[in-house]
Amino acid sequence: MSKIIWTRQAILAIGIVSVGSAFGQVNNRTDTEFDNNKGIAYTRHNLTQTSPADASSSPNGALMDAFRNNYGQVCVYCHTPHGASSTVEAPLWNRTRKSHTFQTYDLLNTVTLTQTVTQPGPNSLTCLSCHDGTTAVDSIINMPGSGGYDLAQETQDDDGAINAFLGGWGPGQGDTFQHMKLDANTSNPDSCLSCHSPDGIVAAQSFAMFAIGTDLRNDHPVGITFPTANPDFNVTNGSTARGDAFFDNDGDARMDKGEVRLYNTGDGPEVECASCHDPHGVESAGVGSDFNPTFLRVSNVGSSLCMTCHVK
Ligand code: HEC
Ligand code: HEC
Ligand code: HEC
Ligand code: HEC
Ligand code: HEC
Repeated sequence: MSKIIWTRQAILAIGIVSVGSAFGQVNNRTDTEFDNNKGIAYTRHNLTQTSPADASSSPNGALMDAFRNNYGQVCVYCHTPHGASSTVEAPLWNRTRKSHTFQTYDLLNTVTLTQTVTQPGPNSLTCLSCHDGTTAVDSIINMPGSGGYDLAQETQDDDGAINAFLGGWGPGQGDTFQHMKLDANTSNPDSCLSCHSPDGIVAAQSFAMFAIGTDLRNDHPVGITFPTANPDFNVTNGSTARGDAFFDNDGDARMDKGEVRLYNTGDGPEVECASCHDPHGVESAGVGSDFNPTFLRVSNVGSSLCMTCHVK
């Protein structure tokens, strides 16, 4: 049986049918077919988009195969056991990154901000390597199997060169397919949002809120130092040898995944994306329970995430 390859045209045709049947409906659905429990393979960060438990209820892995390399491994989109980045301070990091300057929150000029803001640190750049929409989600340094490995790709800014490199990966995939990104510009034909947004097709969930971009003025500040001796903020009660600080809720002196943390990569403890989020998911109520929504370390029901740091 030959492999069914979904082309952009075929999927757009489905989209048109569903536009017709759902006349007037805007596709701003954000619900997911993933279970959001057990492990990262059951979350939206499984970019193979194939459910390990039940391939028949797989969230459309094959349907997406024309738009990113399906490496068939969950971790490899972010990590590799060998040949990882030697410059990004993140565990065995396998993603390429582009050089650019982010517009940081302080440029908004609010009168209340007291702390120093720098460019996002490594524990934000990891997330932004997909969520700023400038790099294809499958753009990695070390591809699985006998596929490509090229550390020179790590800081490659030229999309053409990166796509040529990614296109070399097999079997039978990559060369003729697209390598799409989470670009908020929905008219970019290389953006997942060309389908997954209110401007896209009704059949596909909207990822509009996930496309953070390089302008961070409208996002909670990151790369910002955490105040000490400021009555508006709670005091951390845990720290690591490197000088990271955390709220040690269970008192085990370990920075657990469900504990909000401040990363020290040289400027003292700072808020970064991973202060609030764990990209692998964190159980909401112990082993086996559903993960907190949106990969949060702490549930934000009753604003409890916010109140971990802020005294309000
Ligand atoms: C040509 C249109 C199109 C493009 C481009 C596209 N998708 Fe999809 N995608 C779809 C359709 C249609 C579905 C099925 C919708 C559903 O499951 O209800 C889908 C489903 C998905 C799902 C399952 C949704 C869920 O959470 O249950 C994910 C995840 C996904 N796509 C990710 C991506 C990513 C990442 C990209 C870019 C690399 C991308 N898609 C590009 C049309 C598209
Ligand atoms: C979507 C990207 C992504 C995927 C996929 C991913 N990780 Fe991670 N992982 C990260 C990031 C980002 C960090 C660093 C988090 C931080 O800044 O503290 C990390 C950190 C880790 C760490 C260090 C300890 C910790 O939890 O922070 C381990 C171990 C790890 N990942 C293992 C895995 C394994 C195993 C898989 C596959 C089953 C996987 N990861 C899939 C992004 C990912
Ligand atoms: C390898 C690329 C990649 C990396 C790295 C990555 N993400 Fe994502 N993330 C995605 C994609 C693509 C989606 C959209 C859904 C999908 O296609 O599965 C997504 C979805 C999300 C969502 C929405 C989840 C939901 O269930 O609605 C959140 C929140 C998120 N990411 C946060 C983060 C944070 C925080 C980090 C860093 C710690 C991060 N991501 C790192 C690719 C990535
Ligand atoms: C201070 C805590 C905090 C920090 C820092 C933070 N986030 Fe979030 N993030 C949240 C909360 C809370 C939500 C859930 C918002 C909601 O449900 O409406 C969220 C939601 C998201 C979503 C889902 C879309 C949405 O708006 O609901 C994405 C994607 C995301 N964050 C990515 C990031 C990235 C990338 C960074 C770093 C640039 C980051 N976050 C930094 C707290 C944070
Ligand atoms: C990890 C700790 C932490 C968490 C969690 C956190 N914040 Fe913050 N927040 C900070 C720090 C640090 C600042 C910078 C304070 C300053 O400069 O005075 C800040 C600043 C702010 C500001 C003020 C920005 C300004 O212009 O003065 C607002 C509003 C804010 N946070 C809201 C929230 C909300 C809402 C949440 C929950 C979704 C949240 N924060 C979660 C640490 C955190």
